[in-house]
Amino acid sequence: MSPIPAGRPLRVLGIETSCDETAAAIVDGERRILSDRVLSQTGVHRPYGGIVPEIAARAHLDHLDGLVRDALAEAGVGLDGIDAVAATGGPGLIGGVMVGVMTAKGIALARGLPFLAVNHLEGHALTARLSDGLAFPYLLLLVSGGHTQLLVVEGVGRYVRLGTTIDDAAGEAFDKTAKLLGLPYPGGPAVERAAGGGDPTRFALPRPMLGRPGCDFSFSGLKTAVRHAVAALPQPLSPRDVADMAAAFQAAVAAVVADRGRRAVALFRARHPEGGALVVAGGVAANRAIRTALETLAAECALPFVAPPLRLCTDNGAMIAWAGIERLRLGQRDDLAFAPRPRWPLDPTAPAAIGAGVKA
Ligand code: KG4
Ligand code: ZN
Repeated sequence: MSPIPAGRPLRVLGIETSCDETAAAIVDGERRILSDRVLSQTGVHRPYGGIVPEIAARAHLDHLDGLVRDALAEAGVGLDGIDAVAATGGPGLIGGVMVGVMTAKGIALARGLPFLAVNHLEGHALTARLSDGLAFPYLLLLVSGGHTQLLVVEGVGRYVRLGTTIDDAAGEAFDKTAKLLGLPYPGGPAVERAAGGGDPTRFALPRPMLGRPGCDFSFSGLKTAVRHAVAALPQPLSPRDVADMAAAFQAAVAAVVADRGRRAVALFRARHPEGGALVVAGGVAANRAIRTALETLAAECALPFVAPPLRLCTDNGAMIAWAGIERLRLGQRDDLAFAPRPRWPLDPTAPAAIGAGVKA
């Protein structure tokens, strides 16, 4: 039986539990987000200075049912008004992914609905089509706590990875730098705030991979350079030291992102001489300095710059529901025997990156 209903747009429940956000949303085939509930676990993990996978999984288990109920209520529909259930099937922290997948399978089985296991990266990759109705193809920079990737998005299920991090993700580097500077978790926003009052030229930090061939990233050397520079300063650090170091770090990341992005645009243009856009997604996309660097790059390359609203750039259920809608329209669905995948590259032909993080 076709899941496409007669007389009204397709409606999908999306569930996201792959990292430290528990999320459930209802989205329809006309790009309307009928509800979008996100419960962040930041407070739960803050005492540990990072995400504890076991605690994350338990928190998802505690809250997911309630969030699904709230998402349905806010959308004003019951389970009988839903046409399919999509959940992040990976990549991510496996305990959390299992909670989301089992919940989605349970609902699908009980209600006889199609189940879709969505690749979390595909959720990020297709978000600009939900928020902005963007046409294929486009170039995506995904910069989050777990991933830093440049992808050509050519169609649903058709992704070409141009570059990825060979060690830490950009967000991870922000979080680790924050820790070194004595700033709170999550580090990105704290580093950005501190950098606002700092002098980016006082400390000379490296710009890893700048000018190198290809589009890969590396951030662990930058983080180590911050550690050495911090250790050479009188302790405890003065607010001025913290601000200047944060500004130097942020400027280095922005410069590297612009350099790698410029190379990726050239490769994108070689594949697609016409059209396209530069799209950014992931929590680090919130950073003004990085956003400005990308906006400048897009203008230089005469590409429209598309940044979905921040709420849709960070982890959420709406992007999973939307990816489900896109796949469902192509007649796709997954078997209830689907096994959650801690690692799940979007572009299986791309070489595996050494030490790349598992969350997105
Ligand atoms: O996409 P996201 O919400 O979650 C996943 O990683 O899946 O991204 C979170 C990451 C964290 O590393 C956080 O420090 C970083 O995004 N981040 C930022 C900013 N806001 C969040 N990094 C730099 N500047 C920001 N303003
Ligand atoms: Zn993500």
